[in-house]
Amino acid sequence: MDSEIRKILEAEERRQRDTLQMIPSENYASAAVRALEGSVFANKYSEGYPDRRYYQGNRNVDLVEKLAIERAKKLFAVPHANVQPYSGSPANAAVLFALAEAGDTIMGLKLAAGGHLTHGQPQITFSGRYFRSVQFGLDNEGLLDYEEIHELALREKPKVMIIGTTAYPLVFDWQRFAQIAEEVGAWLVADVAHVAGLILADAYPSPVPHAEVVTTTTHKTLRGPRGAIIMVTERGIRRDPDVAGKIDRAVFPGLQGGPHDNTTAAIAQCLFEAGQPEFRQYGQQIVKNAKALAKGLQEGGLTLVGGGTECHLLLVDLRPLSLSGNVLAEALEVAGIVCNRNAVPNDHMPPFYPSGIRMGTPALTTRGMKEREMETIAQWILQVIEHIEEERLPEKPEARAPFLKEYRKRIAGDPFLQKIAAEVKSLAGNFPVP
Ligand SMILES: Cc1ncc(COP(=O)(O)O)c(C=O)c1O
Repeated sequence: MDSEIRKILEAEERRQRDTLQMIPSENYASAAVRALEGSVFANKYSEGYPDRRYYQGNRNVDLVEKLAIERAKKLFAVPHANVQPYSGSPANAAVLFALAEAGDTIMGLKLAAGGHLTHGQPQITFSGRYFRSVQFGLDNEGLLDYEEIHELALREKPKVMIIGTTAYPLVFDWQRFAQIAEEVGAWLVADVAHVAGLILADAYPSPVPHAEVVTTTTHKTLRGPRGAIIMVTERGIRRDPDVAGKIDRAVFPGLQGGPHDNTTAAIAQCLFEAGQPEFRQYGQQIVKNAKALAKGLQEGGLTLVGGGTECHLLLVDLRPLSLSGNVLAEALEVAGIVCNRNAVPNDHMPPFYPSGIRMGTPALTTRGMKEREMETIAQWILQVIEHIEEERLPEKPEARAPFLKEYRKRIAGDPFLQKIAAEVKSLAGNFPVP
């Protein structure tokens, strides 16, 4: 390997090993998953679907794609699965293109309230530009208001409701969404990218009995490669016997060319892992860890959106401390705790300078950490907050970037943060990465 790349790779390996990865969408894939992603399957072209390829030489690719499909169908209990989408965003794009025409109304949760870009974010995404997007937010407590969602759906009559989240700490009432969708004649698409692994571990409710289509990424709680799966449920097929065909055609040739067969192989492997009894314990432990972390932070006086967590993530509202998400996330990173700044419901600040931080436990749980470690981590977070409590992001928008540049330099060598980083490294050393 080129020495320049090797140096960067080794630095990233050290970073992932010596610090706490607490971005809820991240995880550590197994060595087998990573080996398959880097395997000879990456050399192949195989436009089309198993037994219907446009290229020769796909004997083995067909086997591996069929394996991935069969495993997805069995684990999620669905009659149809497509494992070819390059990632979560293209999966959602394919579903929207399959179920709606240009200008049709789609409905989803606002990005600022924890929805995803592909759920109809206006102006800057295909989903908000190509379709007519109507969106709902959260109430003042940061909760979904099903009455408001119902009213919006009745008023706007969306063709598709694409429902999922990147930051909502409580479980979704899929049945309620299905009742609303059914009443207005909308397709219900459940995007479970964040919680798919929890669903397989019975640690989060499955939308499969309620939604018509389910999409997921494979690299978050599912702990696989960067990829995605689109599933059609019995309900979906009852509603339109050709919906699976429409979705397959929207993926290829509608949106993509050759599938990434190396990713397909790694998806087959990650679904094998998710089918093992240990995976159930893993998913259950993720939620126990998130609850323990939430408890520690709340006992230290922090405000959590939704009052806590029922899944793998939590969202700290920093408004009561007048602290910026940027200021805290930067300091936590110096202390070896890697999370991300995030908008809180009804945030008065713009998305680049939001008033919250989001943290999750999937990656720490993969390393084998449990409630005890979460308590220690909560204490470190509280200590970092106390240490930088007086730091204020400037009011003037144009002063914010220069302030953060100077702040980043100033805290890089901060002895208190470095002391915590050393303690973090020592704890992390007891929990090997795969
Ligand atoms: C709910 C949800 N849907 C879709 C996606 C998109 O996935 P990707 O980043 O792989 O395009 C994400 C990614 O964070 C997500 O959280």
